[in-house]
Amino acid sequence: MEWGMTNRMAQLIQSDGHTLFLPVDHGYFQGPTRRLEEPRKTIEPLLPYADALFVTRGVLRSSVDPMNTKPVILRVSGGTSVVGKDLANEGITTSMEEVIRLNAAAVGISIFVGSDYEKETLLNLSKLVDKGEKYGIPVMAVTAVGKELGKRDARYLALASRIAAELGAHVVKTYWCENFEKVVNGCPVPVIMAGGPQVNTELEVFEFVYDGMQKGAIGVNLGRNIWQNDFPVAMIQAIHSIVHQNATPKEAQELYSNEKEEELKKS
Ligand code: 5RP
Repeated sequence: MEWGMTNRMAQLIQSDGHTLFLPVDHGYFQGPTRRLEEPRKTIEPLLPYADALFVTRGVLRSSVDPMNTKPVILRVSGGTSVVGKDLANEGITTSMEEVIRLNAAAVGISIFVGSDYEKETLLNLSKLVDKGEKYGIPVMAVTAVGKELGKRDARYLALASRIAAELGAHVVKTYWCENFEKVVNGCPVPVIMAGGPQVNTELEVFEFVYDGMQKGAIGVNLGRNIWQNDFPVAMIQAIHSIVHQNATPKEAQELYSNEKEEELKKS
C-alpha cells in the first residue's frame, strides 16, 4: 500500500486494530432523522469517543468544526430518497477533488446487491476504487439493504460483502446477523458493523456488538442505536468499551448505567 493510503487507514483504524465510526449521514436519503435534526448538537458531545465521523459534505461544512474534529469518512453516494421510486438507484455525488479539498480520510458508498440497480451501484464502487487508488483514498463499501431489512441474513450479507471486497473496497460496512462469522470469514478485507434502526434495549446492542467483535469484525459504524438513545454519551462510552477494551455486554451495561446516573445527577 502506498504511503497516503496506509496513513489514511491508520487514521481510521486504531493501534489495537479496532475502530468506532460515528455515522451521521442518514439525512442524505431520509431527511431530518429523529435526534439528528440539528447535526451539530448530536455530533459535538459524541465526537470525543468516536475514532471517525461518517458524514456528507453538506453536514461536514455546516455542522462540524474544522479546528476540532476526527478523521472524516465522506459519504459520496446518493441522489435518491425514502419518498422516491427506488432508494437503490444511487449515483456518486461528490468528486475526488472535493474529497481531497475536505481532507477526508476515506470515502463511503452504498451498494445494493440483488436490487434493480445492482450493476450500477457495483460499477459505482469499482469506479470509486479506481479513483481512490489514484489519490490514496480508502473506500468503505456499505452493503445497503434499503427498506428490506429482512435481507439481513448471513448468506446475503456474506455475498454482498465478498462482492464489495472483490471489487476493491478497502473496508466493508455491513450488518451484524446470526452466524456473523460466515460474513467475516468470507470477506478478505476488514468488516465493520452498522446498527440499523434502534433496537428495544441497550443490552441487545451490547450483545450484538460483542458477538460481532468476537467473530472478527474490527469495529462498528453505529448511528441510531447511539444518538437516538436517551443517553447517547453513556451509550457511545459503553460501545467504546466493547470495541477498544474488550468489555463484555454485562460490563458495558454497567458502564452505561453508571454514566446514565452521572448524567441524571447533572441535569
Ligand atoms: C445510512 C448509513 C449509516 O451510516 C449506517 O446505516 C449506520 O447507521 P445505523 O447504525 O443508524 O444503521 O449508511 O445509509
